[in-house]
Amino acid sequence: MNTKVNLLGLTFENPVLPASGPLTEGLPNLLNLNDSPLGGLVTKTISVSGAVVKKPCIVATKHMVFNTELWSEHDLEYWTEQLPRLVEKKKKPIGVSVGYTEEQLRIVIPAIEEYADFIEVSTHYNKASLEALVKCITSMTKKPVFIKMSPHIDDDLHFVETILTCGASGVVAFNSFGPGIVIDLKNRALLLGNEDGHSWISGPAIKPFALNRIAKIRRQFPNMPIIGCGGVETAADVLEMILAGADLVQMLSAALIGGREAYASVVDNLGKTMKDNEIESIEELRNTMLERKVMGKGGYPSITERCIGCQMCVKVCPFGAYDNGMPPILDKSKCIRCGLCESRCIANAIEGVLT
Ligand SMILES: Cc1cc2nc3c(=O)[nH]c(=O)nc-3n(C[C@H](O)[C@H](O)[C@H](O)COP(=O)(O)O)c2cc1C
Repeated sequence: MNTKVNLLGLTFENPVLPASGPLTEGLPNLLNLNDSPLGGLVTKTISVSGAVVKKPCIVATKHMVFNTELWSEHDLEYWTEQLPRLVEKKKKPIGVSVGYTEEQLRIVIPAIEEYADFIEVSTHYNKASLEALVKCITSMTKKPVFIKMSPHIDDDLHFVETILTCGASGVVAFNSFGPGIVIDLKNRALLLGNEDGHSWISGPAIKPFALNRIAKIRRQFPNMPIIGCGGVETAADVLEMILAGADLVQMLSAALIGGREAYASVVDNLGKTMKDNEIESIEELRNTMLERKVMGKGGYPSITERCIGCQMCVKVCPFGAYDNGMPPILDKSKCIRCGLCESRCIANAIEGVLT
């Protein structure tokens, strides 16, 4: 299986990168990921001063992460001392994430530029300043510049058009969702939050939003480099994101929820998942236009011999269409062919609605 990605003159052994965040905060974490099978690196967002972050700042459930982090808590001086050490040991392309204002970027970009293979810019959408911001950055570097989009932007195509006109190479889609709040019921208060009580949401729960955004941008901009980000947890997620239109894929929250070994496990499973899905190379998948037609059959569910009698279908059917036999028998007069039982069957024993 060929997992290589060639993009803007850079070679990535595979398309999986860490997304900017705590696992790429500081030299020890970056050196750790440098030795991992990831295809590239992306630093925590660097600004002039270190961020002062209200604690607690990261809380996770099984499918979501809530955070109130800002940019790196290390200042620019720390990074200009540590980045050369990372570059000395570099095994893969390094993306340096930077932020935020024009004034700060005029100081940050010249200081980090020589260590970056590409620059990623964390932005909060602001129509008035986006153009000036991107022009300012691209005037200071010849390295590829990716602008990271926030998911709350609704005129995303205009955003992309603007950044391309101003010299950016591509887009990262996208950052954490929000704002949200996390309630601490016992104390009738909030569990974490910034000064407004808000936190930002990421992790597997946001993947469908990221996929939709990437597919929409890809349809409009067939050749622009896109780095997909949001909710990736498995090798299949990586491949789905590439089919949606991403050239490279970033992941963070799943590695916070399950530990950083999640990165190695995603990369290690890439070859097998490609084989299972008859994908010869990442390039071939990237060049496939996602079919916008729905493939689900929409017939009645039929329970096959793989049924283990767990009764999950009986339990979840909203219409009470199964009896509790072994295997359960379907009453077609009650079944609306929705597909829920097939999607929840733990033994993969139901077919006919979705597959
Ligand atoms: C704890 C935490 C810290 C983050 N810090 C940054 C950051 O410094 N810069 C940035 O651009 N994005 C930051 N992000 C956003 C992630 O890079 C990513 O865009 C988002 O979490 C969605 O991807 P995921 O679902 O794989 O985590 C942070 C996310 C989390 C959870």
